[in-house]
Amino acid sequence: MAPRLILVSNRVNVPNGGPRQAGGLTVAVNAALKNREGVWFGWSGKVSGDGEPPAVSVTERRHKTFITLDLSETDFQEYYNGFANRVLWPVLHYRVDLAEFTSVDLGGYLRVNGRFADALSPFIKPDDVIWVHDYHLLPLAKGLRARGHSNPIGFFLHIPCPPPDILEALPHDEETMGALTHYDLVGLQTEQDADNLSRYFAGLGANVYRASGLFEFDGRRVRVRAFPVAIATAVYSRAARNSAKSPLVEELRGSLGGKRLILGVDRLDYSKGIPGRIQAYGHFLEKYPEWLAKVTFLQVTPKSRAGVPEYRAIEQEVNGLVGQINGRHGDPAWTPIRYINRSYSRAALAGLYRSAQVGLVTPLRDGMNLVAKEYVAAQDPENPGVLVLSQFAGAAQELDGAVVVNPHEPEGVAAGIREALAMPLDERRDRHARMYEHLAVHDIDRWAERFLTALGEAKERPGLLKGLRSLFAQRA
Ligand code: F6P
Repeated sequence: MAPRLILVSNRVNVPNGGPRQAGGLTVAVNAALKNREGVWFGWSGKVSGDGEPPAVSVTERRHKTFITLDLSETDFQEYYNGFANRVLWPVLHYRVDLAEFTSVDLGGYLRVNGRFADALSPFIKPDDVIWVHDYHLLPLAKGLRARGHSNPIGFFLHIPCPPPDILEALPHDEETMGALTHYDLVGLQTEQDADNLSRYFAGLGANVYRASGLFEFDGRRVRVRAFPVAIATAVYSRAARNSAKSPLVEELRGSLGGKRLILGVDRLDYSKGIPGRIQAYGHFLEKYPEWLAKVTFLQVTPKSRAGVPEYRAIEQEVNGLVGQINGRHGDPAWTPIRYINRSYSRAALAGLYRSAQVGLVTPLRDGMNLVAKEYVAAQDPENPGVLVLSQFAGAAQELDGAVVVNPHEPEGVAAGIREALAMPLDERRDRHARMYEHLAVHDIDRWAERFLTALGEAKERPGLLKGLRSLFAQRA
């Protein structure tokens, strides 16, 4: 029987019977837990008063156990709003200029990781496999090891990993990025990310031994490998087919009055390149006036991380730009940009993707960007839309049928939009078929299986590095 799997992430999505808002991480965790006994552990999403002891709650649902703990107001500010989202998030997205470091927030981050380790520790059995997700929990394995757990522990980073000189800009980086050396396996989104982390690890100190993705630090071994995160391709494609007939989609289509639809879907986040995208669309309307009143750009942007000042600033910037473009190019019968700040269920989004002739995905930097993959999976293969994709999204490494653009060059993005709108049917079909085939093979189940197999192997071969070392020593 497969060992029990413990998934750990900052947020835990406890099923409550309501409509599914599941983001990429939830889909990934569900795939890992499929057909296994499992536990999902993390923050409840609730913030309690500072004086109260953190409440741990355990919920059982269909052979899965969900264990969550609350955060105090101070923990929430220092760990989540502070160090995770004002330091790690910008730095790992190559935005050192936006990082607002304080040692108080770093202290809060380490303290909450300690709380997670304390709260999880009593639930861990000797045979459990533990898989930790994302930048909120970089030092968790170190905390669990210090509490005596020698289980296999893997980590997957959902966001980008920049080169060592950027990582080293993190004050006390050895306590956060450096703590990744306490895992048995660290998974990254792309080969470039894996290479960046490998070079960072190689520079960590004198007692580092490196052999193709395998590192040894004073007797501890850790493997580094790329595992590009994926989607449930067939399920998503089916959802898009069904949702294309939903009232939401019918109404949208009716409201377009035959105009083509360009669609962007992103959390309101500076890494997503939303202001640049809107400017590029404005440029497109200026440069290619034959498209005026023939196309509508729908940008769906749920607000996020409202407690972080940089997110409030981007909200104002985007509102201003939408107003400018609509004011300049719109007429009584046509609004060039429709901008919506609410979130939709996965099923509803799938139907919107299928209705759009262009999927516009132009982040300045993104670990993977699952919107790009979902857009492709949602298309009608007989009459597919075209994906316009930033070269700086991890997905660009895989989706070779996309029109790839540089989000820093508005003229280039505008030309990409035009190319997508004008692309002949045969070419659209060819590009889509190529990408769909890739996504059908490299789906989320395979992703979870590959990671867990690699984690099992990483733990199983204690003599491997010793063997490699003596082999190299003999050759030298
Ligand atoms: O992309 C990284 C990530 O942490 C995802 O796992 C998550 O869905 C998203 O950011 C939203 O972040 P938050 O939990 O801060 O709302």
